[in-house]
Amino acid sequence: MSQTIRFFLNGQKQEASVRPDTTVLDWLRSGPRLTGTKEGCAEGDCGACSVLIGDPWFDDAHHEGAVHYQAANSCILAMGQVDGRAVVTVEGLKTEQLHPVQAAMAENGSSQCGFCTPGIVISLTGLAAQRSAAGAGLAACKTEVTDSDIHDALAGNLCRCTGYRPIVEAARKVGKATIAGPHVAAFAKIEPRTTISAAGSTFHQPQSLNDLLQLRKEKPDAILLGGGTDLGVALADYHTDWNEVISLARVRELRAIRETEDHLSFGAAVTWEEILAGIIEYYPSFATLIRRFGSTQIRSMGTVGGNIGTASPIGDGPPALIALGAEIELASLSGHRFLALEDFFLDYRKTELRADEVIASVSIPKPVEGQEFRVYKISKRYDQDISTVCAAFSIVREEGQVRSARIAFGGMAATPQRAPKAEQALVGSVFDHRAVEACATAITAQFKPLSDWRGSAEYRLQVAANLAERFWRDVAGETVEVMAL
Ligand SMILES: Cc1cc2nc3c(=O)[nH]c(=O)nc-3n(C[C@H](O)[C@H](O)[C@H](O)COP(=O)(O)OP(=O)(O)OC[C@H]3O[C@@H](n4cnc5c(N)ncnc54)[C@H](O)[C@@H]3O)c2cc1C
Ligand code: FES
Ligand code: FES
Repeated sequence: MSQTIRFFLNGQKQEASVRPDTTVLDWLRSGPRLTGTKEGCAEGDCGACSVLIGDPWFDDAHHEGAVHYQAANSCILAMGQVDGRAVVTVEGLKTEQLHPVQAAMAENGSSQCGFCTPGIVISLTGLAAQRSAAGAGLAACKTEVTDSDIHDALAGNLCRCTGYRPIVEAARKVGKATIAGPHVAAFAKIEPRTTISAAGSTFHQPQSLNDLLQLRKEKPDAILLGGGTDLGVALADYHTDWNEVISLARVRELRAIRETEDHLSFGAAVTWEEILAGIIEYYPSFATLIRRFGSTQIRSMGTVGGNIGTASPIGDGPPALIALGAEIELASLSGHRFLALEDFFLDYRKTELRADEVIASVSIPKPVEGQEFRVYKISKRYDQDISTVCAAFSIVREEGQVRSARIAFGGMAATPQRAPKAEQALVGSVFDHRAVEACATAITAQFKPLSDWRGSAEYRLQVAANLAERFWRDVAGETVEVMAL
């Protein structure tokens, strides 16, 4: 057991003797006094606290190592989560000269009060660094950066005074950008510790599923931590203590993405950013939804297992996954069991998960011939917002008739739910307007949603029914891209 967290900070090896549940933001500002990293909202929304987190990444084809950097929100990131990794703050970007992103921001008048500027520089550096990694031959890195990539990179950064035009213009001027961090080989020298404990807070980092399940059995009350984007908000906002944490981030089996001839399977600790890269080829509509999931910072930390484990009625992953026929794998030392995802959710925030179990993976079938899948997120803002209603539709047609249908909603009940009668209304039909009307009527009859500040019950019902028609028109190729959807 160790009492220190070892990592690289702006390229230098660092040891921190703090409780592992201290937020990285608090430590940066109060320990080494790196005050360029700001606190705005303290709940993952504004991006003022953004830092880059680096991990060694090996290209399967070339076995060449490189460090892969992604922006993350340090206000909801615990110090235990950076053990064995690299952290780069805005102070670490400038060498003798301004970093190319800083130079472009300065030349372009992209800052006024400057409060948001360090976070924006970090997010744009994360994007530019992916171009450099692409140059090194790493898969899933961007060779070319489009305006849409720039908007995605900035979706988690709030600027109240400059306006985004000059910031986007600065981003367009930046080409590749390297980060002065450790070389990949240096990571071997600070191998992550299995257990870190300081001042009454213990952070376990098992590396295999078996070790995880053993710990889960011995410590059923310990917090299971995926990326911490749900749990970290409570840590930062309500100053809850994490006295015993089991982190899933280093469990090999939970980090794996597997592909067979007809299925895709994601380990529970796979992040949404990684799922985005894996799914875009098969389900572009799901990929569009994921690009609207929080921000780049949230997607680089948040995991699919956490999205399911938190069992929120308004989580975005479950409706899409349920409509795709997802199966969830629950693992304990007694064995593995597999459930249809819709059967995992029992009631508001109540699930099938037993005290000694973890979510190990979720798998979905690959698309089959004649399948049409769309998922729609209705929220008050396009980016970085929670769904008022999330609706997912999947049909398979054979010889002009709907052979099977799966429809699922979020935001309409205490749990993410399938709509069986709405599905039946489509099955056997030629997918015409009459069938879609019957489907919409069944949706309205099934659900009794709540009214809250995001939308009234009537609004939710109307939207959910309208989305059935939107799906029909989308499949017919009638609709145009609407930013609000
Ligand atoms: C600013 C912001 C924006 C967000 N935007 C969205 C959004 O657009 N759409 C959306 O759906 N969500 C959103 N979220 C919520 C959150 O990011 C997601 O739910 C995310 O997928 C949670 O994953 P995590 O790994 O961070 O979960 P964690 O916070 O680590 O865990 C969440 C819960 O799941 C449990 N858990 C985690 N992994 C497992 C496992 N393998 N087995 C069993 N239990 C497990 C934990 O114990 C905990 O109870 C947002 C959050 C923030 C802060
Ligand atoms: S302080 Fe706002 S995202 Fe962290
Ligand atoms: S420059 Fe003031 S908030 Fe962005």
